[in-house]
Amino acid sequence: MAKLNLGFLASHNGSNMQSIIDSCNKGELDAEPRCVISNNSKSGALERAKDEGIPAYHISSLKYPEQEDLDDAIIEAFEKHNVEIIVLAGYMKKLGDKVIERFNGRVLNIHPALLPKFGGKGMFGEKVHKAVLQAGETESGPSVHLVNNEYDKGRILAQKKTKVYPDDTVDSLSSRVLELEHQIYPETLQKIAQGEIKI
Ligand code: GRF
Repeated sequence: MAKLNLGFLASHNGSNMQSIIDSCNKGELDAEPRCVISNNSKSGALERAKDEGIPAYHISSLKYPEQEDLDDAIIEAFEKHNVEIIVLAGYMKKLGDKVIERFNGRVLNIHPALLPKFGGKGMFGEKVHKAVLQAGETESGPSVHLVNNEYDKGRILAQKKTKVYPDDTVDSLSSRVLELEHQIYPETLQKIAQGEIKI
């Protein structure tokens, strides 16, 4: 069976990206990490890519102020490495329409709450967990979804749930959800690789 060629876009730590790379290395995921792009030259994601020997690129709007040029640079890097699926892993920028069109229906993201709740513009990081706690939700968990040009609105591919406990804090909830993220992202990609989930 052919392996899925993955290209990552990540802005910070890159722990989700790492969990996917680890699953590939362990032979649990029939995919190959081909290339990593970050808009942040100091990101953990770029460090991790270098440690893993995966081609890594710093491509940002500082280097490419015009959206179209930025999109072209991202597309060029991914095409160079024959990327088939884009994996957003904590990418803090809105992906340009040109990239979304080029990889039509083959861009995935992970969100740390049960979409369609607690998504949309400005809902990222701690804000998501804070909103979940403030709303008095009894459960939360990550969603893996396809990316279109509206924030967090693409088709939901998979979700995993954890209870929200009365004494949860943003820290305790986010670390429990992050653990589930590290499971569900590689699992979902494997289901795509096996044709169990069609994208
Ligand atoms: C995760 O919480 C993910 O849900 C969100 O950004 C965070 C990225 O964390 N999209 P990491 O960089 O993968 O550690």
